[in-house]
Amino acid sequence: MSKHVTARRHTPRSLAALDAPIVALTAYTTPMARLMDPHCDLLLVGDSLGMVVYGMDSTLAVTPEMMIAHGQAVVRGSKNACVAIDLPFGSYQQSPQQAFAVSAEIMAKTGAGCVKLEGGVEMAETVHFLTQRGIPVIGHIGLKPQAVHTHGGFRTVGRGSEAEQVMQDAKAIEAAGAFSVVIESTMEPLAREISETLSIPTIGIGASPACGGQVLVGEDMLGLFSDFTPRFVKRFAAIGEQVDKAVAEYAAAVRDRSFPGPEQCVGMPKKES
Ligand code: KIV
Repeated sequence: MSKHVTARRHTPRSLAALDAPIVALTAYTTPMARLMDPHCDLLLVGDSLGMVVYGMDSTLAVTPEMMIAHGQAVVRGSKNACVAIDLPFGSYQQSPQQAFAVSAEIMAKTGAGCVKLEGGVEMAETVHFLTQRGIPVIGHIGLKPQAVHTHGGFRTVGRGSEAEQVMQDAKAIEAAGAFSVVIESTMEPLAREISETLSIPTIGIGASPACGGQVLVGEDMLGLFSDFTPRFVKRFAAIGEQVDKAVAEYAAAVRDRSFPGPEQCVGMPKKES
């Protein structure tokens, strides 16, 4: 009898044990997840979806319901990558118990493998509470977009005296039991030092090539936006331009009635040539 072997999805454990850099992208929908999944170890349903998908100015108005709906879509569209879901602003900062309730709901309703939350020393107690109760956690330090108003904007973190605080954040999140930590928009030498100091993998975005992995917002790296993109984004494609061209051609074809043609219609006689 032949044995049917099903490839297993990455887990927090297998990610932490990878001997190559972790390849991660954000994904918010099933079609994108399907395209990214074969190439990625980790798909992050980031709360950046508030800005990328819903056109908000920040991530602050994103809700657990939004994260659950998009998390379900990404889990449905993937079978290789571990799926991580961001805890949105206001859903976890109040207490470890509040964080556990929202994490458990998100994981149960989506089937995601872990959650990610922003914060350093101040969130260490919460990370410990979650990891002790079966919730694998990715930390997020450096630029924390949910703290945009106290940060003073979306700026690079870790210059001067700020560096020591970010290092303390990294150590606290590791000691609390996170299996990985995202370092966002942080001075390269500091991100490098943190990556060399911690024993869990760091995942950089605007951080350092020395990180244990890299993540980008999928729409940014695909060039789906024409608006401002941060310096740390490298566009690996210009899909936005292709969309623009395709939609312009479609509009012209509708207006000159060349679409739909006989191939797209039932019972329509082909034109004599
Ligand atoms: O929300 C998000 O997309 C993120 C990434 C930028 C890491 O947190």
